[in-house]
Amino acid sequence: MQIFLDTAVFEEIEEAVSLGLIDGVTTNPSLIAQAGKSLEQEIPRICELVKGPVSAEVLATEYEAMVLEAQKLAALHEHVIVKVPLTEAGLRTVVKLRPQGVRFNVTLCFSVSQALLAAKAGATYISPFVGRWDDIDRPGLDMVADLVTVYQNYGFDTQILVASVRSPLHVSQAAILGADVVTLPLKVLKQMIKHPLTDLGLARFLEDARRAEQA
Ligand code: G3P
Repeated sequence: MQIFLDTAVFEEIEEAVSLGLIDGVTTNPSLIAQAGKSLEQEIPRICELVKGPVSAEVLATEYEAMVLEAQKLAALHEHVIVKVPLTEAGLRTVVKLRPQGVRFNVTLCFSVSQALLAAKAGATYISPFVGRWDDIDRPGLDMVADLVTVYQNYGFDTQILVASVRSPLHVSQAAILGADVVTLPLKVLKQMIKHPLTDLGLARFLEDARRAEQA
């Protein structure tokens, strides 16, 4: 399973890249705003650092404007994956530009039927938002399980990119279900590394070694 970092904060991306475990990055308008940077400035340097797919999201909501913005974003760097919302304009933009080689991440997916249409449109990635489903008292990972089944049923090559990931449990369950990618905040990546029994075991090993040296 590929792991993308879900942030636009350059220093966080540098830290994750230095770990050697990151395959790509996803950004969204909220994350770009939080980072206090412009998309046009940040995306090229993030692409150079990550050397993998980097999602950059359109702000336009109307079809014609979205096509123009998608073309501009795609031209920023060869690693750019244009992120469009799962709306009629978003799907039409994918259908229009996919044959020209523009790759899309269709985002804000909350149902299997939406995901089916994104795959038919030719999306490279579909982003189901698991955490936001959990927020409204529905298990987000159930949607991922259904997506895996439906995409397998018909041999779609759209990759399932699990988004709105809030915990290591989201990641491990997505992996068990066979999702292609998860995108996660740096905090969750660090939580995945930690286990109290690892810390306890290491402390015991070191203590035993210290005692043996003193004996
Ligand atoms: O990738 C989408 C993600 O950024 C949304 O996460 O936690 O705001 O629901 P969240």
